[in-house]
Amino acid sequence: MTARPVFVLNGPNLGRLGVREPEIYGHTTHAELADLCARWGAELGLAVEVRQTDSEAELVGWLHEAAESGVPVVLNAAAFTHYSYALRDALAQVSSATVEVHLSNPAARESFRHTSVIASVVTGSISGFGVQSYRLALQAIADA
Ligand code: DQA
Repeated sequence: MTARPVFVLNGPNLGRLGVREPEIYGHTTHAELADLCARWGAELGLAVEVRQTDSEAELVGWLHEAAESGVPVVLNAAAFTHYSYALRDALAQVSSATVEVHLSNPAARESFRHTSVIASVVTGSISGFGVQSYRLALQAIADA
């Protein structure tokens, strides 16, 4: 059986995983996270493509690509989660399964993180399990 393609899209500052506030985000680097996602995906019959950008425009473009191709998306929009209506509108165009993920639990942190402007347009959300949030999201996509 051919593996189903899935995008794992990571937003701003996530390229600095491992060195960025490790007490909150852990010690796994972005490269290591990408390898883990590829491995977890393969076990689930998914061909995972991991991308990271600090650019809102680039992330919007990748969501347009998902909307056009029908590829499901695991999205950690990072800080864009809390205020980017452009991202929200792009995500609303994706008709395949979409999972909002966070390493930390934003609801348990500063009040500006309590708002997610994308939560209402994703299939579901997983937060607070560190890198395991991504494994759970891929599992959800595989089961969708
Ligand atoms: C994050 C949570 C966001 O509030 C924050 O801006 C991030 C990472 C997380 O994965 O826990 O950059 O999305």
